[in-house]
Amino acid sequence: MEQELHRRDHFGVQDFVLLEDYTNHDAFIENLRKRFQENLIYTYIGPVLVSVNPYQQLDIYNQAWIETYRNVNFYELPPHVYAIADAAYRTMRGDNCDVCVLISGESGSGKTEASKQILQYIAASSTHSTEVDRIKDRLLNSNPILEAFGNAKTNRNDNSSRFGKYMDIQFDYKGAPVGGHILNYLLEKSRVIHQAAGERNFHVFYQLLSGGSPQIIDRLKLTRNPQDYFYLNQGDSYQADTVDDQQNYKMVKNAMDVCDFSSKEQDDLFAIIGSVLHLGNLEYQVSDDGLVKLKDVQPLQIIAKLLGCDENILQASLQYRTIDARGEKVKTPLNQDQALYARDALGKGIYDRLFTWIVKKINVSLAKRERLKCSLMGLLDIYGFEIFGINSFEQFCINYCNEKLQQLFIELTLKSEQEEYEREGIQWEHVQFFNNKIICDLVEGRPFGIIAIMDEECLRPGDTTDQTFLEKLSQTIGSHPHFVTHKAANNATRKTIQRDEFRLLHYAGDVTYGVKGFLDKNNDLLFRDLKEAMSETANIITSQCFPKDELISKKRPDTAATQFKNSLSKLMEILMSKEPSYVRCIKPNDFKRPAMFDEKIVSHQVKYLGLMENLRVRRAGFAYRRPYKVFLQRYKCLCPDTWPRFNGSPKDGVQTLVTYLNYDEDEYRMGKTKLFIRFPRVLFATEDAFQLKKHDLATLIQTRYRGFAQKKKYLQLKASAIILQSHIRRMAAQRELERRRHAVQCVRKFIKGFMCRKKPECEENRQFIKYTKMNYLERLRKSLPRNVLDKKWLPPPELLQETSKLLRQMCMKNMVLKYVKKISPQRKRQFQQKVMAESIFRGKKELYKFSIKDAFIDSRLAAHHEALKNNVFEKSTKEPGEKVQYCSAVTKYDRHGYKARNRVMIVTDRNVYILNEKDFKVKDKVPYQLLSGIVTSAYTDGLFVIVVSTAENGSKGDLILQSDYVIEAVTKIAMSGKKVDVVKIASDGSIMHDMASGKQGCIEFVKGSTYSVKKGKNGNLSVIAPPLG
Ligand SMILES: Nc1ncnc2c1ncn2[C@@H]1O[C@H](COP(=O)(O)OP(=O)(O)O)[C@@H](O)[C@H]1O
Ligand SMILES: [Mg+2]
Repeated sequence: MEQELHRRDHFGVQDFVLLEDYTNHDAFIENLRKRFQENLIYTYIGPVLVSVNPYQQLDIYNQAWIETYRNVNFYELPPHVYAIADAAYRTMRGDNCDVCVLISGESGSGKTEASKQILQYIAASSTHSTEVDRIKDRLLNSNPILEAFGNAKTNRNDNSSRFGKYMDIQFDYKGAPVGGHILNYLLEKSRVIHQAAGERNFHVFYQLLSGGSPQIIDRLKLTRNPQDYFYLNQGDSYQADTVDDQQNYKMVKNAMDVCDFSSKEQDDLFAIIGSVLHLGNLEYQVSDDGLVKLKDVQPLQIIAKLLGCDENILQASLQYRTIDARGEKVKTPLNQDQALYARDALGKGIYDRLFTWIVKKINVSLAKRERLKCSLMGLLDIYGFEIFGINSFEQFCINYCNEKLQQLFIELTLKSEQEEYEREGIQWEHVQFFNNKIICDLVEGRPFGIIAIMDEECLRPGDTTDQTFLEKLSQTIGSHPHFVTHKAANNATRKTIQRDEFRLLHYAGDVTYGVKGFLDKNNDLLFRDLKEAMSETANIITSQCFPKDELISKKRPDTAATQFKNSLSKLMEILMSKEPSYVRCIKPNDFKRPAMFDEKIVSHQVKYLGLMENLRVRRAGFAYRRPYKVFLQRYKCLCPDTWPRFNGSPKDGVQTLVTYLNYDEDEYRMGKTKLFIRFPRVLFATEDAFQLKKHDLATLIQTRYRGFAQKKKYLQLKASAIILQSHIRRMAAQRELERRRHAVQCVRKFIKGFMCRKKPECEENRQFIKYTKMNYLERLRKSLPRNVLDKKWLPPPELLQETSKLLRQMCMKNMVLKYVKKISPQRKRQFQQKVMAESIFRGKKELYKFSIKDAFIDSRLAAHHEALKNNVFEKSTKEPGEKVQYCSAVTKYDRHGYKARNRVMIVTDRNVYILNEKDFKVKDKVPYQLLSGIVTSAYTDGLFVIVVSTAENGSKGDLILQSDYVIEAVTKIAMSGKKVDVVKIASDGSIMHDMASGKQGCIEFVKGSTYSVKKGKNGNLSVIAPPLG
C-alpha cells in the first residue's frame, strides 16, 4: 500500500485511514471519486474493503491477478477483493479458525459479483482433486440456479438478488474445499405476483418462456409471450439489457444437472413455474347467485394437471375457506378480494417454498462426503439498506437486517481494535462514535419493540388493521428518539410524514415506512384449504413443500417478522463465531452506467453504509500501524543509523528511525510488534522524504547495477577470450601434435629405411633411399670442387658410389671444358708446348721438374736485344714471310776449344739463328731441313747440342749451346721445326758432337756441387751438374 502513497494527490489514498481530515464527509467522497476516475474501484478502511461498482468489465479478474494476490501480505498490493479473499483464506488456514466475508451494500452495488469473485479466487487458488473439483463445480454452479429463481431485474440492477444468502464453504485441513452449505433469507416473494413499473418477475419465468424446448412449452401449455401472463406483465418490462434469458436457461438446466437435480425433479420444478404463471391468469367474477366464481376454468385445469391434484379440490380451495368454529368445520365462500388474495397467496407461497426446496436440494449436493472436521469460510451476500419512494414491510426487514449487521460490525471492529491495542500493550483511548444498538433494540426489543408490537397486533383478537398497529406504535414508542409518527412528531417534522406512515431514524439515514400491508405480510397467511390442496399433489416438490405435518400442528406458525428476526439472530451467532472480513459495496449512479460518479448517490450510500463510522472507529486510535519489520524495511534509508542495515531488533531500528525523524511524542506509539502512527500527515511526511531519498537510492542502485553489469560484461568477455584462447591453443597444439606425429613417422620411416637400406629397394626403404640420394645430391651441390685443382669430393653413401664417380668425372670434365674455353690461343700454345716438353723430358732429364712451374714465353730478350731484334733481325736478317717463334740469350761454346761466347738465339718457323749479341749479325743459321738432332744431358745442366746434318757442304758442325731455359728452348726449336722426334736425352753422361772437318768432340757430364762448364783436361767439354733442389 505504501507503494502508492506518493501518488495520493492524483489517485487519492488507498486506505481511508490515511485521510488527514477523516471526519470530513466531502473529503471521503472526493477520495472515492478520484480513485473511481482512474478505475481504482477498491479502497480500504483499514481491513475493510470499499468497492465501487464500475459497471464495466475491468481487466483485474483473471488468473494472473489471482496469482499476484496469492499469499501476499494484505497491505503490500493495491486494494482488491482478491486481497480480502486471500487474507480470509490465510487466516482460516493459518489460525485454524472459521472466517466469514460480509458483503453489504445497496442493490446493484456489486455484492453478488464480489461474492462470485471471492468464490472464483478460492476455487482457483486451492488444490485439485476429483472430489475437490466436484465440489468446486457445484459451488460455482449453485449460483446460476439461485440467481434464476432468486434474482430479478429491478430498476436498480438487471440482476438484483431478491433474497439474502449466506454460504459456508467447508475446507479440509489442506485448505481444499470439500463441501458447502447455503442459508437463504427472506425471498422477496411479493415480486411473484406484482412488479413495479420497469421491473420484472424472477428471471426463471422469462428463461423458461424464451429458452424452454417446444416440448416443455407445450407440456406446460404456455405461450412464449410473457405479456400473456398477469404475473409477468404488470411491470411492463420483459427484457433486461445485460441478461440473456435464452442462454441462461441452458446454463441453469446444465447447473441443475451438475447439482444432481433429477430429470423428474426438473420436470416438476418447471411444472410449478408454469402453474404459477397460469395461476396469475385466474380471474374471478361474481355469478348470479352472488358467489365468486372463476371466469375461466381452463387455467385451473392446467394447474391441476401440472401439479397432479384434483381439479375440484383445487378450485374449491381457491373459492372457499374452511373455518374451524368451535370444533365444527364451516366452509364459507370467499368474496372477490379474498379470492384474489388467496390466489396470490398461493402463488407466493408455492414459489417461496419452491425456492427453499431448491436451496435444500443444492445443499444436499454440496454436502461433504466425509465426516471430517473442517474449517469454514462464510460468504454473506445480503440485501443492502433500501430506501424507496414507498417503503413497506420488506424494506423494514431489510433495513433491520442492515442495522443488525452494522451492530455486529461495530462490535467486532471495536473488539478487534481493542484487542489489537491490548495485544500491543497500548493504552486504549475511548472515542465517541454512534452505536446503533438503540435502533436494533427499538425494532426487536420485547415487549416494546416494533416487531413485538406488530406480532401482537396480528395475534390480538378483534379488528386489527395497519392503522391500529400504527397507533399502538405511537402510543408505546412514540417518544423514542429514533422513531417518529405523524402523531408523535413535532410541528416541523409532521409536515414530512403522512398519517399512515412511521419513520425510523436508522444509523444510515431516516426511512419513512408506509404502514399499509404490514400486518398481512407479517401474518403471511396461506389459507389452510390451499395448503391442504397442495399437500395432496402428485408433484413431488409441492407435496414436499407442503408437508401434512404442518396441517396437523395446531401451533400457530411464527409471523414473518419473527421468523426473520430469529433467522437473523442465528445468522449473527454464526457470524460472531467467525473471524470477519468486510466488503462494502457502493454503486456510483442509478443508471447502471460506467464512469459516472453521482456524488449525491454515493454520498448517500457512504452515509447509510456507515463508512464514516467505520473510519471513525478505525481512526479512534491510530491511523496507521505496521509491523516493525515492514516499516523499517521501507523507510530505513531515511536514517544513517538504519541504512543499509540495522544491527538489532526491528523494534529498536524503528525507534532509532523515528527518533531521527523527530516524530513527536504524541504522534506515535511503540507496540509490542507494531508501530502505531496517530496522524496520516506524519506518515505522509515520512513517505515524501522516502520518495525524495529514492532518487539517491536509485543512483546508488544504478551505480551498483552498472558496476555489476560492466563486471558481468567484463567477465563474459574474459570468459570468451579464454574460450577463444583455449580453442586457438588447442588448434595450435593439434597442429603441433600433427607435426610431431608426422615427424615421428618420418623419423621412424627414416630409421626403418636406414635399417633396411641395404636390402633391395622396397616399400620400407624407398623413401630413405630417395632421401639419402636427395640429401647427398643436395649436399654435393653445395660442396662441389671450385676448380680443376680442387680435389675434394663429398664422399658418397654406398648407394651412390657409382653415381658419385660418374658425377665426379662429369664435374671434372665440365670444369676442364670451362677452363679450356676460357684460355687464350696464346696460352693454349704455351700449354701445348708444356705438354710437348713433358713428353720429351719427363723422367729423362732432371732439370725438367724445375721447369714445370714457369710458363714458356716467346721472348727472353733484354730490352736492348729486343730493340736490336726489331731493327736488325726483323728488318734485314730474316727471310720474307719468316716468323719468329722464340728469342733468348744463349751461351755458345765453340766446337774447337769450347770457348764460351754470348749469343742471341732466334728461332723462326724456318731456321734457328745464332746471332752476335752486339749487333745481331748472323753467326749460325740452321734451317730445319739440316737439323737432324737436338741432344741434352739427363742432368740439371742447361747444355744442348743442335745436330746439323753433315751432308751439307760448308757445315761448321753441331752447335753447342747453353741456355738458362734449356727445356723451353729445346721444346720451342723442336716444335717450330717439327723436329720433336729427333730430340734425344743422353743417358750415358756424354754427348758426342760433330765438329767441322768430320771430327768429333765429346761433352762429358758429371754431377757435382756447383755448376760449371769448361774444357776439361782431356780436351772434352766437362759439365758439372749440381744436384736437385
Ligand atoms: N466488479 C465489477 N466489475 C464489473 N461489473 C460489475 C462489478 N460489480 C458489479 N458489476 C455490475 O453491476 C451489476 C450489479 O451487480 P450485483 O453484484 O448483482 O449487485 P448486487 O448483488 O449488489 O445487487 C452486475 O450485474 C454487473 O453488471
Ligand atoms: Mg446481488
